[in-house]
Amino acid sequence: MNSKPVKVLMVCLGNICRSPTAEGVFRATVEKANLQHAIQVDSVGTSDWHVGEAPDSRSIKAAAKQGYDISLQRGRQVQDADFNDFDYIVAMDQQNLRDLQQRCPPALQHKLSLFLQHGTSIYQEVPDPYNSGNAAFELVLELAEDASTGLLQKLLVQHSLSR
Ligand code: 4NP
Repeated sequence: MNSKPVKVLMVCLGNICRSPTAEGVFRATVEKANLQHAIQVDSVGTSDWHVGEAPDSRSIKAAAKQGYDISLQRGRQVQDADFNDFDYIVAMDQQNLRDLQQRCPPALQHKLSLFLQHGTSIYQEVPDPYNSGNAAFELVLELAEDASTGLLQKLLVQHSLSR
């Protein structure tokens, strides 16, 4: 058994809507598969706008509706050490990915990906729901569930994880 857990970092702009949802849903997916000893997950924003804040109440509500509690997460901004600390750094949209690419050392760029490239949706990015209504928050949740399933499958294969 691998003793060192695989570490996954979900990234969006504010770390109050999309990446906390991705963190919560992916963690639940990992726990459902009984792999919490093998995979760790965290989330950050590329901005410092909401550092220390709880997720947006609309994200908390959309998550709770599907059985996920993300209310205890707190906003954090990406820092240089994250590029070393995490094995998979997963961006919610293309702008997040570009911001990460600019900051990430060349030798660690292989860690960066788009969340939805792991899933089956026709969406390529998780749309920013911040200035939209409840349906946009529910879409984030749905996209996070699909991509989490795909990402877990990839980690299982790539790291030969067992329960
Ligand atoms: P997130 O959404 O990147 O999914 O957390 C946003 C949250 C806050 C803002 C923009 C997007 N904002 O402009 O404060």
